[in-house]
Amino acid sequence: MPTIHLDKLVKRYDAVKVLHGIELEMAEHEFTVLVGPSGCGKSTTLRMIAGLESVSDGEIYFDGKPVSHLEPKDRELAMVFQDYALYPHMNVARNMSFALRLQKRPRAEIDKKVKEVAATLGLSEYLHRKPAELSGGQRQRVAMGRALTRDAGTFLFDEPLSNLDAKLRGQMRAELALMSQRVQKNMIYVTHDQIEAMTLADRIVVMHSGVIQQQGRPEELFKKPVNKFVAGFLGTPPMNFLDATLEARGDEVFAVAEGFALRLEGEKTALSNSASNRGVTLGVRPSDIEYAPAAPADRALQLNVLVSEYVGAQSVLLCQSGSNKVTVEVKSETPLALGQTLTFAVDPNRIHLFDRKSEAAL
Ligand SMILES: Nc1ncnc2c1ncn2[C@@H]1O[C@H](COP(=O)(O)OP(=O)(O)OP(=O)(O)O)[C@@H](O)[C@H]1O
Ligand SMILES: [Mg+2]
Repeated sequence: MPTIHLDKLVKRYDAVKVLHGIELEMAEHEFTVLVGPSGCGKSTTLRMIAGLESVSDGEIYFDGKPVSHLEPKDRELAMVFQDYALYPHMNVARNMSFALRLQKRPRAEIDKKVKEVAATLGLSEYLHRKPAELSGGQRQRVAMGRALTRDAGTFLFDEPLSNLDAKLRGQMRAELALMSQRVQKNMIYVTHDQIEAMTLADRIVVMHSGVIQQQGRPEELFKKPVNKFVAGFLGTPPMNFLDATLEARGDEVFAVAEGFALRLEGEKTALSNSASNRGVTLGVRPSDIEYAPAAPADRALQLNVLVSEYVGAQSVLLCQSGSNKVTVEVKSETPLALGQTLTFAVDPNRIHLFDRKSEAAL
């Protein structure tokens, strides 16, 4: 199993640059998830690793050796494509065993492997069907099965669960997590679904417009996003962003707007030096705001609760605070009156601040 290093990887289509120097190291057995909005360059990156797209600039190393001149078949990879690319004239079993048959593996070994993988993917009943006789989600699972029967060192997945319904998606996500622990291979997984990214990844790589914004462990990115893009991309409901002004009051520094004057703590107090009425974006996650009628003023957020959406154990409140819209997640049994301005509390350690212009975390 190789370590994989993308060294200042660039992709150009004619004059248009779609990857701007991707720098990424993946350790052995690591589950790496590339995540970002549509068009940010995830599939392009994966296809370059697989050898299906040429490298415009930079290099790809497997175990320290450059591979960009190698044919896909010489890279010991198995890939699941975004559009499945199944062989239409072969049934499920033959689709799944294709690579093994090419390698002329013994029949018994092939049958065993196909049965095993089909059982994991819930496809045992469908082994004799052709792709045209399957639903989209079933086809997607066959595409996964075709990769998983192979004995590759590295598995590349491009949105392998995108056509499954929510329940099946959750199940497959858990199966994949289990499988990756069991097989101990390198996995590189592309998705635009941040929940998939958070739950599966050892390392998340957040991309935007062909540039890596941040990479690290899921908790790291969730707790310490380096900029507003990453902060807003990970987490549901997404982080609230409020316009605020930093005000130094004596030794202390406050983030202030209509409806709140929150006293900053910890390393953020260092901002008092540059505080003089600097406009910032204050970020706070919906789950980090709680209903607290007795909150002290320097932690309080006055919110006019407009709408309450019941989603089971939690309710999501859509609120207004001055000119800022704020989403809050509370336990559903919290007694709240709509249409009134109520006091909520924010833990100062959970406040994020971003520069208005550069959007970098402060
Ligand atoms: N053959 C091509 N010629 C020109 N531009 C291309 C080509 N293939 C991809 N692109 C552009 O490169 C960018 C990255 O595309 P890519 O397929 O990697 O995005 P993605 O992150 O996988 O998006 P999605 O989530 O929609 O699959 C896009 O802006 C796309 O329009
Ligand atoms: Mg894609």
